[in-house]
Order: sequence, then C-alpha cells, then structure tokens
Amino acid sequence: EHLVVAIDGPSGSGKSSVSRAVARQLGIGYLDTGAMYRAVTWWCLEEGVDLDDEAAVEQASRHIPLEMGTDPSHASVLVSGREIEDDIRTTRVSEVVSKVATNTGVRPVLQQLQRDLIDRIATQTGGVVAEGRDITTVVAPDADVRVLLTASVEARLRRRSKELHGHDADHAVEATRDQIVRRDADDSTVSEFTEAAEGVHLVDTSDLDLEQSVAAVVDVVRR
Ligand code: CDP
Repeated sequence: EHLVVAIDGPSGSGKSSVSRAVARQLGIGYLDTGAMYRAVTWWCLEEGVDLDDEAAVEQASRHIPLEMGTDPSHASVLVSGREIEDDIRTTRVSEVVSKVATNTGVRPVLQQLQRDLIDRIATQTGGVVAEGRDITTVVAPDADVRVLLTASVEARLRRRSKELHGHDADHAVEATRDQIVRRDADDSTVSEFTEAAEGVHLVDTSDLDLEQSVAAVVDVVRR
C-alpha cells in the first residue's frame, strides 16, 4: 500500500529535479542516493581517508554518521549533525566521487542502507521516490514503478552547463562536455543507460522541460 517509485538516469537527465517534483506532487518522501556517495566522499576527504585505499573507504561507508533528509522540498544531508548539502556539491567532491561510487566494497553497504531507508521513508510518509543509477535494477528492482530517464548528450550538456555556470554558460560548454563524457566513462562499470531493464519505463527528456518531464513520470505512476 506504500508507493515506491524508483528513478534512474545519467547526470544531466534532469533526474534530481524531476524526482523531487514528482515526490512533491504525489505527496511522498524522497531519497537522493547519489548524495550518499557524495557524503561518503566528503567524509573521507574530511577525515583524511585515502580514496585509493578501498578497504579504508569501505570502512568509512560503514561508520559514517549519516542522516539523509527525505523532504523533496528541502534537500538535506547531515553528517554528525552537520549540514553538508552544499559541501557535497562542490567540484572538490564531484571530481573524485567516482572513486567511491566504483568501490566494490562500498556499493553493497550503501545499497543496503538505501533499501532500509526506502522502507522507512515509505512507511513514514506513505511512499517514496528514490533516485540514482542502480535503483531500478539493484536497490529496488521490486519497486511499484520503475522509470529510466534518458536524454541526448547535447540536452544533458545544456542542462549540466547551466547548472554549473548559470545562464551565461557558452564558454563553459566544452569543459562540461569533457566532464560529462569522462564521468560517463568513470561510471560505466556501474551503470548502462542505453536500454531500460525489463519492466522499466523509459522516459526521454531531451525535448521536454521540467514540467513536461514531471508530467510524463507522474503519468507512468498513475497508469
Ligand atoms: O548528477 P551527478 O552525476 O553529478 O551526481 P549524483 O547523481 O549526485 O551521483 C554522484 C555519483 O554517485 C556519480 O558518480 C554517480 O554515478 C554515483 N552514483 C552511483 O554510483 N549510484 C547511485 N545509486 C547514485 C549515484
């Protein structure tokens, strides 16, 4: 009776804004799993844990005093009670988060944490939208609704560039293109986005604005 919506997609697919808006519209909770990989990365940098020491990073992921906000209207990530929502979005973290995301010891730890959180949020708020890279396939393959958001490289580039540099972004497009292509390559061991797994609804947002993307996902949920 609790609604679990799983949304996956690459960087720049509009995943985060769409997922938040969908959760708001449905009046349920929200979980940003990418923020958890970012939080572990931030915590390691903070604690002086060598990101190339896979066992040490795995230990950090087991012990991080992490509290994820679940309100889609208010992004919040707490570590030891400190708000780090802004800190985890800095380039300092973005540049190295793939090391944590591809750590094979870390992934099962965070995936289990995510399953527990999804259950808890769904129970507390009547449902949850969980977004990430492996939610439809690994974390919550039994979700009530599973959506894969896709977008052309050009569309993702436009959004990402705007996100990072504001509207006057033309000069930054090339750097962003490199970043997106590199991140896709770094991430390719954990995610493939060319095709949706069986039972997953594909939503291509290339030619949709935020409102239209949200409507498309809500449509899938209500079907
Ligand atoms: O949107 P962006 O790609 O900048 O980042 P994100 O969604 O905040 O995710 C941060 C990092 O964690 C990326 O490298 C993702 O590929 C990775 N990630 C993952 O491996 N598994 C997830 N369920 C979510 C994110």
